[in-house]
Amino acid sequence: MSKTLTVSRAGAGTWLPRLAWAALAYNVLVILWGAVVRLTGAGAGCGEHWPLCNGVVVPQDPTLHTIIELSHRLTSGLSGLFAIALVALAFRLTPKGHAARFGALLSLGLIVLEGLVGGVQVLLGLTATSTDPARGLVQGIHLANTFLLLGALLLTALWASGGPRLRVRKQGVAGWASFAGLGLLLVLGMAGAVTALGDLLFLPADGTPVDTVKRDFAATASLIQNLRVLHPMLAILTSAYLVWLGVFLRRVRPGAQVQRWSLVVWSLLGAQMVAGFANIALKAPGWMQLTHLLLACVLWLATVLLTYRALTALTVSSNSVSPNNASANSVAPAPSPLPHSTPKGRNA
Ligand code: HEM
Repeated sequence: MSKTLTVSRAGAGTWLPRLAWAALAYNVLVILWGAVVRLTGAGAGCGEHWPLCNGVVVPQDPTLHTIIELSHRLTSGLSGLFAIALVALAFRLTPKGHAARFGALLSLGLIVLEGLVGGVQVLLGLTATSTDPARGLVQGIHLANTFLLLGALLLTALWASGGPRLRVRKQGVAGWASFAGLGLLLVLGMAGAVTALGDLLFLPADGTPVDTVKRDFAATASLIQNLRVLHPMLAILTSAYLVWLGVFLRRVRPGAQVQRWSLVVWSLLGAQMVAGFANIALKAPGWMQLTHLLLACVLWLATVLLTYRALTALTVSSNSVSPNNASANSVAPAPSPLPHSTPKGRNA
């Protein structure tokens, strides 16, 4: 191994994880700024132009909406640069086949997709006051992609920090139950995006939430209004499932990490339920929507971490990026896969 290569690989121990964690934190901010675009109705600030803004690269005499929409495009463009840097560093600093390379590539792919979904939304005119049901669908897909992107960045950061590779197959019920939980949370988030759109386009009715529900099912109501009630109902169902998932994973994959992250998930679920009901009671003011979205992102990340820790609880070897660990990334089953045995490795 050449001296240069040795030095650069050793550097991966700090620079790659740092960049991955920074990219994750930065993307959460970009998501919140995206919500500000929606709340301020600035989505059409660049007209029906994408990637140009009002047909030019730098708009002259921009309105406030143009500045907000353009800044969202620029900040999400920077996410793309972050992802490219992540891929470049991962390929430069980790050995072939390292999981961080896969995570970085996946993150880049999802960022490109994110930009395309946003672009389609603008080009089809599904912005500002558009009440087209297709807007609800695109908004939901946008949110699902965003959650997947956060998950991919989190996994990249974990792998770059030496976390074990994730083994998807042969996990038994723990695997199915974990993926079902993540799937439910994803669908709940998508439904939330439709509810948020409904709150933007059709302000909650004066009076009680029941008045809003009645109005949402009047003969003239649009599909987006009809669907607004779905999210709170799904939230109760999903929360109950995730509480159970925590209990179940603690039993079949015991260990400090699973204990810790199940507690975090439960606490966040409680906080999110309070925020959700407060949202309805207060008729979804902007600051409350941002709080609810931030909590949703953190809850999603905590659930990904819980399932990651549970599904790697039986892994013995570490996915270290240290130069001396050329055989890193390997996944070895624990000596005893018995459900009640104490797993070795990270989770012990
Ligand atoms: C427990 C887990 C929950 C998750 C993960 C979740 C997630 C979300 C997400 C991702 C959005 C879209 C935010 C945006 O695009 O800006 C949303 C919106 C919304 N959610 Fe939830 N939610 C949960 C619980 C609840 C509950 C229990 C209620 C009410 C009983 C509720 C009421 C709302 C309302 C009214 C909106 C639209 C206003 C807004 O965007 O804040 N949510 N939710």
